[in-house]
Amino acid sequence: MSPVRPLRPSDLPEVLRVQRSAYAEEYLEPVEAFARKLDLFPPGALGAVEDGSLVAYLFCHPWTLGEAAPLHAADLALPTSPDCLYIHDLAVRADRRGRGLSADLVDAALGIARRMDLNACALVAVQLTEPFWARHGFRRDRRLEYPPGRAAAYMVRP
Ligand SMILES: CC(C)(COP(=O)(O)OP(=O)(O)OC[C@H]1O[C@@H](n2cnc3c(N)ncnc32)[C@H](O)[C@@H]1OP(=O)(O)O)[C@@H](O)C(=O)NCCC(=O)NCCS
Repeated sequence: MSPVRPLRPSDLPEVLRVQRSAYAEEYLEPVEAFARKLDLFPPGALGAVEDGSLVAYLFCHPWTLGEAAPLHAADLALPTSPDCLYIHDLAVRADRRGRGLSADLVDAALGIARRMDLNACALVAVQLTEPFWARHGFRRDRRLEYPPGRAAAYMVRP
């Protein structure tokens, strides 16, 4: 089982490499957007390390239920009265998929929501991952385009 640990600023170059192996061009966020999320809510920046390399990551933070968090935002701010934990990004390096590595990271995020007494967890499922999230107990609330032109689903897990 791969160890999940909090991310540090020095992990961000590896986060960018994992991101590039996991997402189509229009989803790619700049290092500033990751640095902002890490800075805003450090416990929600999680990585999985194998053989000394970062092979997967998850970013989550408190948020407002019903809202999709902006992509590419270097000035992201947290709401004053959050009512959900928002999973902003989950990626497993292409050569390490298919072994359930993501489950440890998702479980860690759900644990954060429970400890913070947030009654829901939400996310935008992109790249046809709606069935993957459904397996983790998320249900589609609505369809949306995210970013514009790309079909996605806003999903919630009570
Ligand atoms: C989605 C992702 C995080 C899953 O990571 P993973 O740890 O390799 O997950 P696994 O392949 O081991 O999948 C776990 C289970 O979910 C299923 N699954 C994985 N991706 C799926 C998908 N897109 N649709 C339906 N089921 C999926 C697998 O079949 C597997 O089922 P099993 O337990 O019966 O074998 C990974 O594929 C990834 O990084 N994708 C690119 C980035 C991305 O789109 N992230 C989600 C953004 S919202």
